[in-house]
Amino acid sequence: MKRIVIFASGSGSNAENIIGFFQTKTTATVTHVLTNNEHAKVLGRCERLKISSLCFDKNDFIKTDKILEFLKREADYIVLAGFLWRVPSKIVSAFPNKIINIHPALLPKYGGKGMYGMHVHRAIKENKEEETGITIHYVNENYDEGAIIFQAKTEILEKDSADDIAKKVHKLEYKHFPEIIEKVILEANE
Ligand code: GAR
Repeated sequence: MKRIVIFASGSGSNAENIIGFFQTKTTATVTHVLTNNEHAKVLGRCERLKISSLCFDKNDFIKTDKILEFLKREADYIVLAGFLWRVPSKIVSAFPNKIINIHPALLPKYGGKGMYGMHVHRAIKENKEEETGITIHYVNENYDEGAIIFQAKTEILEKDSADDIAKKVHKLEYKHFPEIIEKVILEANE
């Protein structure tokens, strides 16, 4: 049974979905949720779901090895589910092909620093894109640039608001993200 540690900065609806998915599986289980935001809604979800959670700051993450050492002890896989900080290279190199991120657009479009959550959906609406989607990818030292594992698309109608686009994208995330994480783990074990 592999141990997944999730990083989330906000609501955590993907984190909750992944936790639920793996509760019925023997491949892996979510052991902890880590957040950089003490006000993140994901913390309430962890309390309700009885999942261990830990709040950390830049010092723990970047300057010291507190989070790196925690992960070395506790994680086989790291999943970023709405996590907004860049992962420091010492963590990336300690977990090659073991850190998976989801991005709410079809990378390489609409990626990079500042492109997260509703910022992405608003930019897509402004540019009158006719489709968007999700990208699940390995994490490297640069925002949204690691090797792509999976993408799925959804159509945008002219009448769709940025909120409608966000809902369509979330639907794709809930459907595919847990399954793709499981697939990565199963294929690595073959
Ligand atoms: C998700 O849509 C995820 O793709 C996005 O943040 C949202 C988090 O929602 N991630 C990024 O934008 C990363 N660049 P959630 O907190 O409800 O899971």
